[in-house]
Amino acid sequence: MSFKLLSSPLQGFTDFRFRNAFHHYFGGIDTFYAPYIRLDGKFKIKSSYQRDLQLENNTTLDVIPQVMTNDADEFLFVVKYIQELGYKELNWNLGCPYPMVTKRGMGSGLVKEASKIDHILDRVHSETDVVVSMKMRMGYDNSDEILDTLPILEKYPIKNIAIHARIGKQLYKGGVDLDAFQRCIDYTKHTLYYNGDITTVSRFKEMQERFPSINHWMIGRGLIADPFLPSMIKANTTEYPENRLVVFKEFHDTIYKQYDEFLSGPTPIKMKMLGFWEFFSQSFSNPQKTYKAIKKASNPVAYKNAVSEILKKE
Ligand SMILES: Cc1cc2nc3c(=O)[nH]c(=O)nc-3n(C[C@H](O)[C@H](O)[C@H](O)COP(=O)(O)O)c2cc1C
Repeated sequence: MSFKLLSSPLQGFTDFRFRNAFHHYFGGIDTFYAPYIRLDGKFKIKSSYQRDLQLENNTTLDVIPQVMTNDADEFLFVVKYIQELGYKELNWNLGCPYPMVTKRGMGSGLVKEASKIDHILDRVHSETDVVVSMKMRMGYDNSDEILDTLPILEKYPIKNIAIHARIGKQLYKGGVDLDAFQRCIDYTKHTLYYNGDITTVSRFKEMQERFPSINHWMIGRGLIADPFLPSMIKANTTEYPENRLVVFKEFHDTIYKQYDEFLSGPTPIKMKMLGFWEFFSQSFSNPQKTYKAIKKASNPVAYKNAVSEILKKE
């Protein structure tokens, strides 16, 4: 069965540097979703978002921008911005679980606000020709919240709805709720994408067997933890390439160099890479020891030595 793999956006991780290097060294991803744009009441696109989406940084890949808002004017402002850059589709984030966001009725806090969603989609579809796709959790407090909203979405030509099979208040804890995801399939005619906890080839296969009607699979953290995962899923193999560590090192060095050039001073680059190693370490034989070794490295030379040691021991 043919299927597509999508890179789920991770703010702070999957920017254009990561996406381009990822594609070059590992492949396996058909479409990349850029992390969200948020306006916070100001009708101005921050320069970090601009850099991430500008065309010279996105020459080869299929990239879809994302917005997080509960305001139609903000949505329309971002539509205009991405359309001027030449993007045709805008993904809408109704998934973010953090209380600072959800208490203000955004992210997964918006899932249960069916009439607000209706109003925004109505304006967006009557005032622009942008293609809208959505990325949602199943609710904030419980997974039934989405069931009142899905019928409203039927009125609009939403390209697809990616569902992270958790609720907001779980944050990233607990398991995904596959029965609740099945209910979503039963409640909508829209094309659904599955998202949540695809971390191994065998997990992917289990999901594919359980949901035969789904042929788009979004991978977020699993793809940073094990960057070979998408290409191995595509090749239907659990064998890593023989030069696994060489490829990983080249990828690592590529993003390190780019972040180092961009971020000034030893502390920001250290924090940036430490963030990545929280995920990378998970596919090394001793995750805790690996992460600790990186954490301990107090300067760039020590960091580089720590990385070499980790790869030598693997
Ligand atoms: C650090 C971090 C940043 C994230 N940033 C975004 C984001 O910008 N937009 C979004 O829709 N989801 C974001 N997510 C959620 C992921 O895209 C994804 O839906 C979630 O992690 C579940 O998929 P996974 O189990 O494959 O990681 C983020 C998650 C994490 C852990």
